[in-house]
Amino acid sequence: MRRALRMSYLAAAVGGLGFFAMSVLLLGVWPGRALEHQIHATSPEHPLALSASEQRGRAIYAREGCAYCHTQQIRYLSSDVSRFGAATLAWETIFDYPHLWGTRRIGPDLSREASIRPEDWQFSHLYAPRALVADSVMPAFPWLFDGAPDRPRQEGRDLVAYLETLGRDRALAGPEGEAHARTACNCSDDERRFAFAALNASPAMARRTGEHPRLDASQDLSHGKELYAQYCAACHGLRGEGDGPGSAGLHPRPANLAEHEYTLDRLSASLWNGVAGTAMPGWRDLAPRDLSAIAQVVRGFHAVQPEPSLPSDVLELGARVYADRCAQCHGEKGGGDGSAAGQFSIAPADLRSGRPSMAASLRALRNGVDGTPMAPWNRELSEAELSAVAYFVRGFFQQ
Ligand code: HEC
Ligand code: HEC
Ligand code: HEC
Repeated sequence: MRRALRMSYLAAAVGGLGFFAMSVLLLGVWPGRALEHQIHATSPEHPLALSASEQRGRAIYAREGCAYCHTQQIRYLSSDVSRFGAATLAWETIFDYPHLWGTRRIGPDLSREASIRPEDWQFSHLYAPRALVADSVMPAFPWLFDGAPDRPRQEGRDLVAYLETLGRDRALAGPEGEAHARTACNCSDDERRFAFAALNASPAMARRTGEHPRLDASQDLSHGKELYAQYCAACHGLRGEGDGPGSAGLHPRPANLAEHEYTLDRLSASLWNGVAGTAMPGWRDLAPRDLSAIAQVVRGFHAVQPEPSLPSDVLELGARVYADRCAQCHGEKGGGDGSAAGQFSIAPADLRSGRPSMAASLRALRNGVDGTPMAPWNRELSEAELSAVAYFVRGFFQQ
């Protein structure tokens, strides 16, 4: 009896230690190995590591506390997937050590930030978020700049270079990478649905195409004005002149809406898809009736002026210059669909659905459109040719 009691200490010690060892194995080592295996099986062979600049940007992201407000993890929830895109796979964060997943979303998730916004938007936004997004609570980071949004210091460049890596590896893995991960993924049907949804749900990824809603002209103007003031005035200015507080650092500058006429269909396409390659975002979070109301405000900025009529020899000169110099980009009929149009990230203007005022047309020809492939023509064309073609292109517009 006594002997058995003496042995019980030993049994308890062995049992206790054994239990401890077993829990370490079961709760620590084994899941760790399973995860490692899963990462290995689903990751592409050579995921792209961060460059030196991107690595520095990552350190700045950590230093500035961006992770207090932004997550980098899309959860397996339909609310996350429909807003940001496919749920995060474990391998996507292999270079993220110590990780910057974040736990709180005061701002949006940034896992798929790469190529959603152009650089000029990112710089202007970091310099002064409220200059672009009127009701933003994101703090400004002016010390990353030399006094202006288009003069970032090295630190600012590094940080934006890092933002451009978020989601990059998964995008680079491409359809083969997705197919590979899908077969190797040890996940339930439900998880599979979230993990392999469309990679990026941002409207900015729709680029130039995409069905857009039909807008109508009969909407409440005062409601439209409120919406315009909230969402658009920061860039386009309260009177639509393209001179809002956020406009200074953007290339191309926001369109001067007072100097343009747009068809309703063009406005719908541009509001729904944004303008690819520029800071103009898509506005798919707004209901079609709100977009209609905003479109009415935009059209109201343009004052109807008497159209000058020029002699036919001027028109002929304009037509000749256009066919020689402009049609390869803007298209024979002005639809923005010339043979060279596809090679530019910012599309040549479609002159059939949007008409600049005579002054704006001439200005675009003399100065070019900063930040786009539209170069200045004042050296190559004579004054007479410039004004003839500036006039001629306005004739493409179809109400
Ligand atoms: C106090 C919270 C807060 C902090 C800190 C913060 N942000 Fe934000 N951020 C926001 C909010 C809110 C938004 C959404 C409104 C807006 O776009 O300004 C946002 C938006 C963004 C966006 C736009 C995402 C998109 O495409 O719509 C980016 C990029 C971003 N932040 C990067 C950063 C970086 C980089 C840092 C650190 C240098 C940072 N944020 C720090 C709150 C924060
Ligand atoms: C972050 C700044 C920004 C905001 C906010 C913004 N825009 Fe723009 N917008 C731009 C830029 C930049 C362009 C592109 C100019 C160009 O292509 O030369 C543009 C272009 C446009 C155009 C011309 C599109 C075309 O097809 O040529 C319209 C119309 C327009 N914006 C309306 C709006 C309206 C309405 C809102 C609010 C719902 C809005 N924008 C919000 C920056 C902005
Ligand atoms: C290399 C291609 C290319 C060539 C060549 C070209 N353009 Fe452009 N053009 C563009 C692009 C790109 C834009 C800017 C679109 C934007 O701002 O979103 C533009 C803008 C314009 C605008 C301003 C439109 C507006 O709504 O404000 C006018 C006017 C114009 N071009 C006329 C011409 C004329 C006339 C010629 C020939 C002398 C010409 N372009 C040659 C690409 C080209």
